[in-house]
Amino acid sequence: MKIVVMGSGAIGSLYGGFLTLNSEHNVTLVGRKPHIDAIASHGLKITGVMGTHVVYPDTTTDPSSIEDADLVLITTKTYDTVTAAKRVSHLVERGAYVMVLQNGIGTEKEIAESLDTKRVIRGTTCMGAIRTGPGKVKVTGTGLTEIGSHFPSNYGFIPIISEMLRSAGFDVKVSDNIEGVVWTKTLVNCGINPIGALTGLTNGEVYENQDLRGLIVQLVEEAVLVVEALGINLTTEDPVRYALGTAKATSSNINSMLQDIRAGKLTEIDSITGKIINYAKELGIPTPASETVYALVKALEAKCIAESDYREESSLDIDKLMKSISTP
Ligand code: PAF
Repeated sequence: MKIVVMGSGAIGSLYGGFLTLNSEHNVTLVGRKPHIDAIASHGLKITGVMGTHVVYPDTTTDPSSIEDADLVLITTKTYDTVTAAKRVSHLVERGAYVMVLQNGIGTEKEIAESLDTKRVIRGTTCMGAIRTGPGKVKVTGTGLTEIGSHFPSNYGFIPIISEMLRSAGFDVKVSDNIEGVVWTKTLVNCGINPIGALTGLTNGEVYENQDLRGLIVQLVEEAVLVVEALGINLTTEDPVRYALGTAKATSSNINSMLQDIRAGKLTEIDSITGKIINYAKELGIPTPASETVYALVKALEAKCIAESDYREESSLDIDKLMKSISTP
């Protein structure tokens, strides 16, 4: 299969990298210049809990140079989704499917609308990864990849993708309730991510702290009220327990929002907590804890961006990063 990965940060490089290991696929990673140049020169180095590998996918910073694809995987940050999708609209017009593999709510619908296509598949992932420098990614935890689509016309292609991901080493589940999957994952993210981002703690350190555990409970309970009012069927009976269980199971993860804060980048708070607050306002549901963490993350985000000069281009030193997290 010809696969294009738009947004080759940690998660995009991880999926693209393992798909490259299977020589049946032709993978092209599209990303920022330093990362892409490093991969083009020395390959993509993957370390961590799925072993050490060096793989050699095709690379480009300019997707308009790609002529065709069977599948475009969008793993950008949520706020870049539509821009990324528009840059591959020629591939979709020529028949490619788009699969969104991100946190947050609603990006698959934004793509379907902006490209006027139904060839959109949605995925969520509980894999943990961090980019440790140009051309390098570390897998910090493994977890389920769930996929599905709002459009029944894609149901025939979904088993093909799930088989492809399974043979690349991922644990995959196909869901006929993708809306519920996305909301369930968002509840986990709204509970864990802002707290990690604000405190600088790993998921495990957040879980071990009784007060912070209480805050996870509060944030998830507020979001559940919204979910119930919207009539969404979650994929878990006990979302609070599920969120706490995920924090424990991914204890060594530096959650993605904390990674963004550390890198001086915009976070995904708007498509996680921000979406929940917006729905809650429309429905007349009070969400005081969510509003508080939202305001705090936005303020911290602005400060980190102003001070950082966008550190995305520079190499992250994983040891320094871990040290600074354990001694905030
Ligand atoms: O955003 C993240 O980091 C992940 O979705 C999760 C599951 C919270 C683990 O860190």
